[in-house]
Amino acid sequence: MVELNYQTGFGNQFETEAEPDVLPVGQNSPQQVKGGLYTEQLTGTAFTAPRASMQRSWLYRIRPSVKHFTNLEPVDSGLIRTGPDQDASPTTTQLRWDPFPSIASDTNWLTGLSTVATNGDSEMQAGGAVHHFVASQSMGDTAFVNTDGELMLVPYVGHLLIKTEMGHLEVNPGHIAVIPRGVKFSVDLSTDTARGYVCENYGANFSLPEHGLVGVDANALPRDFEYPVAAYDRDDRSTSLIAKISGQLFSTELEHSPFDVVAWHGNLAPYRYELRRFCALGPVVFDHPDPSIWTVLSSSSDTPGTANLDFILFREHWRVAEHTFRPPWFHSNVMSELMGLIEGIYDAKAQGFVPGGISIHNSFIPHGPDSEAFAAATEAELVPSKGPDSLAIMWESRYRWVPTTWAMGLSELQGDYPERWSELERQWD
Ligand SMILES: [Fe+2]
Repeated sequence: MVELNYQTGFGNQFETEAEPDVLPVGQNSPQQVKGGLYTEQLTGTAFTAPRASMQRSWLYRIRPSVKHFTNLEPVDSGLIRTGPDQDASPTTTQLRWDPFPSIASDTNWLTGLSTVATNGDSEMQAGGAVHHFVASQSMGDTAFVNTDGELMLVPYVGHLLIKTEMGHLEVNPGHIAVIPRGVKFSVDLSTDTARGYVCENYGANFSLPEHGLVGVDANALPRDFEYPVAAYDRDDRSTSLIAKISGQLFSTELEHSPFDVVAWHGNLAPYRYELRRFCALGPVVFDHPDPSIWTVLSSSSDTPGTANLDFILFREHWRVAEHTFRPPWFHSNVMSELMGLIEGIYDAKAQGFVPGGISIHNSFIPHGPDSEAFAAATEAELVPSKGPDSLAIMWESRYRWVPTTWAMGLSELQGDYPERWSELERQWD
């Protein structure tokens, strides 16, 4: 395993160089950069965005990126879909799948990627998509760049080494990685296989959520977000570049590696985060609070407090609430939920929701604890207990999740899932 170094702090102004004294001092774009490097700016927000949300980095590289986006030819997009998905239909009930299958043998992260659901409209920079990947091979000399959305990778099996233009990230189950749109990367494996979820965010880049009365030090702590140090390919080597633009995949062959950034500075870069560092808050007296208290990262929309996408984590915690039904209650919410499981058992579902599975509960589709979980929680002795020993995740959106035709045709779709609530009989006497 490679021992990687990281820089820490969410959205900090970083500076890093793989060779000494390459970064210009006191300016971004000198007439000549040391060693003949090219200067290139990468922005993540409009030039005139509010200053507190501005994102941009300056890259100093062997060749400029303009040499990458030439001769792009459309290629088959496979099972990758982008919102709005014209083939998909709305759904009317609760949905849940067993672990998603491989879509072919001997796939890498990209060729093993299939879209589970989309929402919103990528061209309107609203909504997102959730994909699933199964990989048994490294991408090697294939690089990928997504211009449609920021990507959040959430593996639940295997170890990933993500090589990006701005440095390398090691990402294992229990970690997430976020790759800004426009940043080229490849995914290599240091295990025989890897599986995971991917959220593609068409909207505002993920950021730490507002904290209101919570104050500074809880939930995802800024210092726990890790950014790569500059690393580059010293030798020219041919590389296949796949680009996703407006939902279509394109391919081109480069005579050199696009991973040629020798130094960079700025606050826009890929990062990783270890989910068990999340300092969860919870009820210490009674009742079950809103799950928003477990928001790790949030993509805001134009309506304050109404997320384009929230990324929420349900992790092990102490349950101490008195005279309380401790699991999540029954609910019909305006926001639409898509859940996955990295490991363990989620405490609102007694069975049927396992790592690699997905559930979708869209806007105003009622859901909640299943019959068995309800029975257990209403009879449980309310002593302090710690649990569940699991990592469950949710992408919650103001837009309804629309499952792909492929996902709805899978035998892994649990046709009897709505019956999980069928034994909730009348108790009123
Ligand atoms: Fe829910």
